Amino acid sequence: MGDEVRIGVLTGGGDVPGLNAAIRAVVKRAEMGYGHSVVGFRNGWQGVVEGLVWPMTRDDVRGILARGGTMLGTARYHPDKNPGGIEAVISTMEAEHISALVCIGGDGTISAAAKVAKAGVNLVAIPKTIDNDVEGTDLSIGFHTAINVATEAIDRLHTTAESHNRVMVLEVMGHTVGWIAVNAGMAGGADLILTPEDPFDIKEVADAIRRRHKSYASFSIVVVAEGAVPKAGTEMDYATPLDRKGSIVAGSIGEQLTKEIRERTGFDTRLTVLGHVQRGGTPTPTDRILGSRFGLAAVDALSNGTFGVMTALHGEKIELVELSKIAGKVKAVPNELVETGRALW
Ligand code: F6P
Repeated sequence: MGDEVRIGVLTGGGDVPGLNAAIRAVVKRAEMGYGHSVVGFRNGWQGVVEGLVWPMTRDDVRGILARGGTMLGTARYHPDKNPGGIEAVISTMEAEHISALVCIGGDGTISAAAKVAKAGVNLVAIPKTIDNDVEGTDLSIGFHTAINVATEAIDRLHTTAESHNRVMVLEVMGHTVGWIAVNAGMAGGADLILTPEDPFDIKEVADAIRRRHKSYASFSIVVVAEGAVPKAGTEMDYATPLDRKGSIVAGSIGEQLTKEIRERTGFDTRLTVLGHVQRGGTPTPTDRILGSRFGLAAVDALSNGTFGVMTALHGEKIELVELSKIAGKVKAVPNELVETGRALW
């Protein structure tokens, strides 16, 4: 890049803890490492389209490392899905003299980034999502905090379930995948873990709970991913409802499942829908470190003239993957991990 370098940064899609760590690292590396200036865009891609700029310096990112959410704001808006969106991104970049963008987001933001990059914009993406479903990286920012919150919820449900001899159903987020359910379910010692990757038979679920209560236990904990579905051709009729933005309607599978378990087993059964608490609050050290490492790597890539890539964690290393190879793909929980969760039922 030339002498006068101005970098733009945005956070798109659902917020997660650890976004501020990434923004902070981008600003610090750009300013202190390369002498670039940084402009934040408010409200994700929508802010780029509307030219909502915030010139940022080190002073602006002081004290934000441990804070959840995103100081830039976010929105579920994608320029590739709105007429004139990509052209508006390009004209804001020109008007603001921005050489390159850092786009921090999940699958929607990253798919849009791939299309914007194809239209000629210099950019690097950073993966964030509590769902951990971004292809090409072992971890995305936010997932670690979400499984911590969900595990704590399971621990808390255990004591009240045991005291009342109840079946407790906990619905966790995850969209179309079961990463949060499997990981938190295993860490919290859930008795059944239901994921979209492994559609369930309600008869088997009820039998497993009955068996457990008959032989040794007086309570059960069932963790269900919001995207979990019954196996086709089995006794429970269910279709996943989506809202206008394509998000799964919270509580839907949890309610149906709770009703079925109660009716089939006769046990006192209660539902907890964990919801947005999984996305809120203080990031774990792992998410702060991941956000920081991704932020540094993104600015290094842009400064070296590498564009159209996403930062990724592979084992212990931060690497770059081509956006064209991963955009639009969903990383599901591998069979081996689903089976491990099942083996502990
Ligand atoms: O993608 C993150 C996520 O939290 C999903 O797990 C969930 O389905 C969705 O976002 C909820 O979206 P909203 O913030 O629009 O309620």
